[in-house]
Amino acid sequence: RCVAVLAGGLSHERDVSLRSGRRLSVALRSVGVTVEEWDADASLLPRLREQRPDAVVIALHGGEGENGSIQTILELLDIPYVGADADACRRAWDKPSAKAELARAGLLTPDWVVLPHRTFRELGARPVLDAMVERLGLPLMLKPDQGGSALGAQVVRAAADLPTAMVGCLAYSDTVLAERFVDGVEVAVTVIEGPDGPEALPAVEIAAETGVYDYTARYTAGLTTFHTPARLDAETAAKVADLAVSAHRLLGLRDVSRTDAIVAADGGVHFLEVNLSPGLTETSLVPMAIEAAGRSFGAIYAGLVDRAIA
Ligand code: DAL
Ligand code: MG
Repeated sequence: RCVAVLAGGLSHERDVSLRSGRRLSVALRSVGVTVEEWDADASLLPRLREQRPDAVVIALHGGEGENGSIQTILELLDIPYVGADADACRRAWDKPSAKAELARAGLLTPDWVVLPHRTFRELGARPVLDAMVERLGLPLMLKPDQGGSALGAQVVRAAADLPTAMVGCLAYSDTVLAERFVDGVEVAVTVIEGPDGPEALPAVEIAAETGVYDYTARYTAGLTTFHTPARLDAETAAKVADLAVSAHRLLGLRDVSRTDAIVAADGGVHFLEVNLSPGLTETSLVPMAIEAAGRSFGAIYAGLVDRAIA
């Protein structure tokens, strides 16, 4: 049996993905799985058709690895893979769509507006930014509507900083998601599907040295302090776990996901986003949560491969 781990790709998160793919491959080999590491470049499709791996694990981040494109190819070729199917990826990868779906189900998520680039051209930047601040208040968060690793995401504290922040965000996507800033404790919750359905692992609490968990804070060892399990009372810990399992279920996800959330001072747990192909690097949250649960990273992913093939 041969499992192909797809990594690299062409998204802004290529480097992160190569690190995820490397670590995952080592972990899978350590539990006896035969793994080939494939870079998801232009040769991917012909290679999949020719070599037909028994299963694929997608360690691609951003773009085609999470937006349903690779999943569609694998479905067309009838090759089993780990992770959410193409339909679910298409819906959950778009942050505003995921928020809307969970808000409809009654879950908390910071109030938001979606601003396509053309809105600024059609209505003028000033009035649009003013209306946005009026609606969301300050500080607020700007994020590309689709993307990962906090690339292009900005906390805006003063109205004067908005135009520059907006341009920084639009460099990554044509559409900006602006959110009310919810002050609180940032947590990440891994959900793994086992025989009894989706199960939340202990939440990881994130305390970035600079206060902002940006790309550098994510991937530079020592720049962020993690507490696993998060320092939450039992009731809040249960709420956080429920939110992650609900997000996984409501968005129709499969195998593994990681929900990022904020626990506000009043104890409210606010959904930020769900990650379909969560980072698996040395500083990433999913391996941390698995380790804190006293389980083996390699064995869990080997189990997901078995599920995909079964
Ligand atoms: N997008 C990065 C890889 C993460 O969610 O971990
Ligand atoms: Mg993300």
